[in-house]
Amino acid sequence: MTTRKKSRSTRSTKDGLKNRPGPNRTAGNRIGSDDSGNATVSKSSSRSTVSGPAHRGESSAESAGDALAAKFDSTQKLAADMPYNANKALEHGELSMQPQEGQRITASDPSATGSTLTETNPSNKTGAGKPQLGTNPSSLPLDRVRVDSSGQTLTTNQGVPVADNQNSLKAGYRGPVLLQDFILREKITHFDHERIPERIVHARGSAAHGFFECYDSLKKYTAASLFAEAGKRTPVFVRFSTVIGERGSADTVRDVRGFAVKFYTDQGNWDLVGNNIPVFFIQDAMKFPDLVHAAKPEPHFAVPQASTAHDTFWDFISLMPESTHMMLWVMSDRAIPRSFRMMQGFGVHTFRLVNDDGDSRFVKFHWNPMAGTHSLDWDEAVKISGADADFHRRDLWEAIESGAYPEYEFGMQIFTEEQAEKFSFDVLDATKIVPEELVPVTPVGKMVLNRNPDNFFAETEQVAFCAAHIVPGLDFSNDPLLAGRIHSYQDTQISRLGGPNFHEIPINAPVAPPHNNQRDGMHRQAI
Ligand code: HEM
Repeated sequence: MTTRKKSRSTRSTKDGLKNRPGPNRTAGNRIGSDDSGNATVSKSSSRSTVSGPAHRGESSAESAGDALAAKFDSTQKLAADMPYNANKALEHGELSMQPQEGQRITASDPSATGSTLTETNPSNKTGAGKPQLGTNPSSLPLDRVRVDSSGQTLTTNQGVPVADNQNSLKAGYRGPVLLQDFILREKITHFDHERIPERIVHARGSAAHGFFECYDSLKKYTAASLFAEAGKRTPVFVRFSTVIGERGSADTVRDVRGFAVKFYTDQGNWDLVGNNIPVFFIQDAMKFPDLVHAAKPEPHFAVPQASTAHDTFWDFISLMPESTHMMLWVMSDRAIPRSFRMMQGFGVHTFRLVNDDGDSRFVKFHWNPMAGTHSLDWDEAVKISGADADFHRRDLWEAIESGAYPEYEFGMQIFTEEQAEKFSFDVLDATKIVPEELVPVTPVGKMVLNRNPDNFFAETEQVAFCAAHIVPGLDFSNDPLLAGRIHSYQDTQISRLGGPNFHEIPINAPVAPPHNNQRDGMHRQAI
């Protein structure tokens, strides 16, 4: 059972800010001051800031009368409020199968968990030292990182005004150029490092913002908050892609199309990383690197680009009978869509829905474009590839700019394990569909793409979808292809996006504020 101690009453007021150490008016002790010039910190600069007295009661804010003593005191109280781990027994045996909510202790004074007493010394850089308690600003809307440079002076990355952006600094009229020209060096160095690795697959893509709107409550089937009530809207970012071509390859090549949706739900991000074909080439993740190597350009001369008309691919396919179903789709006009607006999407794998009572059902996810599903024919596709390599990218962008927002209906095939047992095929096999004659698709909501990204690199290129990103109320099935994907995405993104903190890149940050004890790593921003 969860044990919760009553939290101590705080010296609190509504905004919580007055919980912070109060001003110390003792003369001669000032090592920092607030706006009004009041001292805010300790009496003595020689006192350690890393620990308080060994025994509770030896010191108190009242007796010492300063902010550091108050911090010691409240830290002691916080530790004393959880003298042992009352939940420990629940981590073992049968009980561990039903994890309980953990203990919660509220500090009597925010200074107990604050990092420094000088937080309240304001400047234009640090701000007023009044962070909103309990919030994580990385989850604020993208506006927090939108930059408006109109009417501004050109500066370096350090904010230093640039006098001359056209000529390097020279010793004399004709040089040589001086090494100390930090403006030239900064400009060139940044340019030198502009490129990041492209995605190992799905390198070529285009994306848009929008929202998902739920038609009716699905509480009976799932605890997922985005399906909790009719009309509920959840922001999304959707990236459509080809699979094999490089980042600059043509849009209308014959290929599978990616259809990846990031739902920024109020219980964290759910990424439904799907394709426009309902099945896949293989059943087991072990074969994925071999499949992709076979389909990518041949290693000795890097031909062909964005296509699979070559020996390595057909060697693979001819030895892999389970790929036949997928190949029939790939060789149909489905693999040369007319537009991203006219493309279906599929989760491909069997997933699970889990409701509040813990009841689980299998589910297959479907996207259906409201504009209908349309394809090019081969002659059109070939011609367009030459005339306008950006045909799909342009089409998506221009449709949204002109207010013709692409819409897709979201549908689910929901079935029980007992039903699945009776099917003549395995629902954990991604080379098979679940026929709609057996399990009809139930429409559950619609998605509208109503806003173009502002910066292709910051949003479309740096977005990181991951098959492992699910939310409460959804779960994986034992599909062995899905298991490989759960590992692969985050793993590849660590090198593609340069370290383990890419969840802090604004386009990837959830709107549900993250709070945990992970720390450090390349490009850490949270303070
Ligand atoms: C074991 C099988 C698979 C593995 C190991 C795998 C791995 C990957 C990797 C490494 C990426 C690049 C991610 C990045 O750099 O951000 C990727 C992208 C993608 N994969 Fe898979 N994949 C597999 C199967 C599938 C399947 C079955 C689907 C469709 C249901 C799929 C859909 C996608 C999509 C849509 C993207 C592009 C996401 C974006 O727009 O950024 N993949 N995959």
